[in-house]
Amino acid sequence: MAIRSFLKKAVKKALGRDEGAAGAKKSSGTLPTGAVAFSDALKVGRSREVVVDGVGVAIFRTERGLLAVDNACTHEDGPLGEGSLSGDVVTCPYHDWRFDLSTGECLSHSDRHVGCWHVDERDGAIFVTGRRTQGSTERGGAHDDGMAVITKNLDEEEG
Ligand code: FES
Repeated sequence: MAIRSFLKKAVKKALGRDEGAAGAKKSSGTLPTGAVAFSDALKVGRSREVVVDGVGVAIFRTERGLLAVDNACTHEDGPLGEGSLSGDVVTCPYHDWRFDLSTGECLSHSDRHVGCWHVDERDGAIFVTGRRTQGSTERGGAHDDGMAVITKNLDEEEG
């Protein structure tokens, strides 16, 4: 089911029929130094994927305000910024792992929290001001949507 919804979203995006969670209206003008987006470009319930110091960060505007986490799911690095948002919880678009954006806690696998970032808003712009917590460096694991996990050793196949 997760892969179907992901493919459906990808097709809609390719056809220009869906802004996706990361969709945002573009503001005109020049961003203040250090800003990653205009405030009015990120509506409640939407996300924005940016790169800060070489690290992908997903910023979400929830009902409570802005929250930012690493834009890499701790399962298989799925883009959390393209996930679906419900309250403060984002669901990864790849295999549906869920994360609490306010704490980084992984609600699907308790040992796989995602790193959080400080995010600030001023002068009509959004700033990511530094890392708040480190995320788990572990990756991989079972697919909760029932898809089989196939592990291959490419070195052995070449011989
Ligand atoms: S990559 Fe996020 S749930 Fe698999």
